[in-house]
Amino acid sequence: MDFAPSSMNQVLPPGVLILPDAAAVAREAANRFVALAREAIATDGNFTVALSGGQTPTSLYRLLATEAYRSQVNWAKVEVFWTDERAVPPESPESNFNNAWSEFLSRVPIPKAQVHRMHAEDSQIGRAAQAYEELLGRLLRRNAAGFPRFHLILLGIGTDGHTASLFPEPPPSLITSRWVGTPFVAKLSARRMTLTLPILNTADNVMFLVVGAEKAGIVTRVLFGKSEPPLPAQLVQPASGNRIFLLDAAAANLQSTPAESR
Ligand code: 6PG
Repeated sequence: MDFAPSSMNQVLPPGVLILPDAAAVAREAANRFVALAREAIATDGNFTVALSGGQTPTSLYRLLATEAYRSQVNWAKVEVFWTDERAVPPESPESNFNNAWSEFLSRVPIPKAQVHRMHAEDSQIGRAAQAYEELLGRLLRRNAAGFPRFHLILLGIGTDGHTASLFPEPPPSLITSRWVGTPFVAKLSARRMTLTLPILNTADNVMFLVVGAEKAGIVTRVLFGKSEPPLPAQLVQPASGNRIFLLDAAAANLQSTPAESR
């Protein structure tokens, strides 16, 4: 397979910020989180945010729990949700809720009733997804088409191009559930609960956090590749919201990409 020459001076698409290292990505994300929270609370009376899973956001969560950042947010006006969750109990080390709760939410004065975890461990996961949709419908502003609109959605990217729990298989566009899907992910042999593309693309702000050399290949494909079908992370294009990629230098070390996928 011949490779097109990669060059560090490839023109980056808009909305891509490269920071020196993972700590700088966490600081940038925390500063943006605080600024967006302040703006949303001033404008709309609350701040609705969906937290992403995986390990990358942990350093952001730890930072938000420090006095320097915690003191800048009016937590009584914050409603926290998740982008996706594994089918595990909330006390599991695999749980996205558990990570955010232990590193962050248990250390800030947010009313627990405003922390809305996905009950993906429920044996009736379809019913739990429907309950989550009702929660979104009740607590979030809507766009003109009636879709719930987050002020901020945090996302990561897996090395296969997945984001939230939207994997290449089953194709995200086939997850016809309105707002919350429960795909069986063959490669994991596990069911997940996830916000669907229409919700991700309704957000006012989507912030991807991607760090580490192991992500350089997928970052290159997401930013420059022409996969067919498109990678799930490439399908996140908020219709009227802002999308930003916060990358560290290692993840932004653009790789040679197969010519046919450019
Ligand atoms: C999940 C996440 C998932 C994650 C990516 C990146 O539940 O696994 O929501 O979409 O963001 O897999 O994970 P890392 O940050 O651990 O690389």
